[in-house]
Amino acid sequence: MRFLRPLIQLAFLTSVSACGPIDSGCRDGGLDGGCADELVPGRTCSSFTYSDWSACTNGAQTRTVTSSSPSGCTGGNPVTSQACSSGTTCASFTYSEWGACSNGTQTRTVTSSSPSGCTGGNPVTSQVCSSGTTCASFTYSAWGTCSNGTQTRTVTSSSPSGCTGGNPVTSQTCSSATTCTSFTYSAWGTCSNGTQTRTVTASSPSGCTGGNPVTSQTCSSIDGAAIYASKCASCHGALASSRVRGASVSAITGKHGTKYGTQAQMQAVADALK
Ligand code: HEC
Repeated sequence: MRFLRPLIQLAFLTSVSACGPIDSGCRDGGLDGGCADELVPGRTCSSFTYSDWSACTNGAQTRTVTSSSPSGCTGGNPVTSQACSSGTTCASFTYSEWGACSNGTQTRTVTSSSPSGCTGGNPVTSQVCSSGTTCASFTYSAWGTCSNGTQTRTVTSSSPSGCTGGNPVTSQTCSSATTCTSFTYSAWGTCSNGTQTRTVTASSPSGCTGGNPVTSQTCSSIDGAAIYASKCASCHGALASSRVRGASVSAITGKHGTKYGTQAQMQAVADALK
């Protein structure tokens, strides 16, 4: 024992000098005699060097720690993953129709792109075009029948010649009213110049529109006064002061038969003499 004590003290001093100051990281200051083995593991890493971030996959990317410090440290909180936006570049596009050619250019818009969730890419949304004039005026077919509140028509021609695009109106809302099929009329008007007319006083079905009411027809217009003037006035005087005013058609034909005109014409003369 007399020789051991100095040896222990020597070992203690050696241990302290190998570990350095206690606050340098040696967990227990080497008092257990094993300090040399625990010198480094006692320190927590506080600084890191990393690899590059990996490619973004499913919204995340990672990296690895390539070195850390202090030298020989363990643990710590290296940041080795992070969220990222999926950076897939769009490779395929679906487009709207090309717009009308205007001033030598026409455009279209991207309606969808792929792969799903992609961004960027190089969609072609503009191109030069032959300087076609935009159509400004249109000729249309008749409107189609009203169906479900809408009716359509087609463009039969447009102008200026050779134009493209423009905004023809080929659809409109409509009320699905039924077409009239039955009518009630006023009496026929007087026959004038071979024609007489009447008006529609009511139509059906209720609320109907259009249809083909008959409101005009030809008629034989026999002008009794004119016939009297040319056939009778020479013997019986002017119509207004005629000697035979008030004569019936049978009185006329009873005397003259149909010498001066047909039965219908004599009827018209009798009407004029009333
Ligand atoms: C050429 C001459 C002449 C012409 C034209 C003539 N009449 Fe007469 N009309 C007579 C004579 C004549 C009588 C018999 C005498 C009489 O009754 O005054 C007569 C008799 C009548 C009578 C019967 C009179 C009565 O009181 O019973 C009537 C009506 C009559 N004419 C109407 C006409 C009409 C209408 C026309 C034309 C479509 C016509 N006449 C053309 C000469 C004519």
